[in-house]
Amino acid sequence: MEFDEVVRRRRMVRSYDPDRPVPPEIRDKLIRHALRAPSAGFSQGWGFLVLEQPEDRARYWASTVGGEEPDGWLARLSTAPLIIVALSNKSVYLDRYAQPDKGWTDRDEAHWPVPYWDIDTGFAALLVHLTAVDLGLGSCFIGLPVEKIEDFRAAFGVPAEFTPIGALTVGYGAPDKRSPSLRRGHRPMDEVVHHGRWTD
Ligand SMILES: Cc1cc2nc3c(=O)[nH]c(=O)nc-3n(C[C@H](O)[C@H](O)[C@H](O)COP(=O)(O)O)c2cc1C
Repeated sequence: MEFDEVVRRRRMVRSYDPDRPVPPEIRDKLIRHALRAPSAGFSQGWGFLVLEQPEDRARYWASTVGGEEPDGWLARLSTAPLIIVALSNKSVYLDRYAQPDKGWTDRDEAHWPVPYWDIDTGFAALLVHLTAVDLGLGSCFIGLPVEKIEDFRAAFGVPAEFTPIGALTVGYGAPDKRSPSLRRGHRPMDEVVHHGRWTD
């Protein structure tokens, strides 16, 4: 697919053909592309938990879903044959930026204007999402409820320094329900872009 088309056709897909697994070579390519994401100081402080076995995927949903979900949301999303959880590791960045070429030896988080560890992991997640679209699959990025993060860590033996920034469900798309959020439409360019100066 042309890159333009990947960007234009990209949509979060929340319903999948449960009988069509993601081939291993595609799964590996999704991850390989994630690892090409840019990262501050080339820190690469990310990690990915890949879940394919039905019991592992069931454990993911059991440990992360708790509150009120939109109608049918879980039933549709849990048809995904592959879940890739993207995790960020802040300590890798604090260590990396304490090195001589960066020099923040105090490891003070106040140096960081925004959490680059989460940004970089988000960039990597977007590459997984776009790669899935390019290869004819669908995916959806979903967040984890904050009150479920400890349950998730415990369920999968994830060390405390790793924080799940979200998960990508991946698979071959099936007829889906349109998200009500899409009624908002894309914001017009002149509303979000400021040329030269923000205000007059
Ligand atoms: C940080 C982030 C968190 C999201 N969390 C969820 C989620 O928990 N559940 C869900 O169904 N979609 C989630 N989405 C998908 C958005 O709802 C979706 O991107 C948005 O409605 C626009 O739709 P589109 O991506 O299909 O254009 C999330 C997207 C992002 C970027």
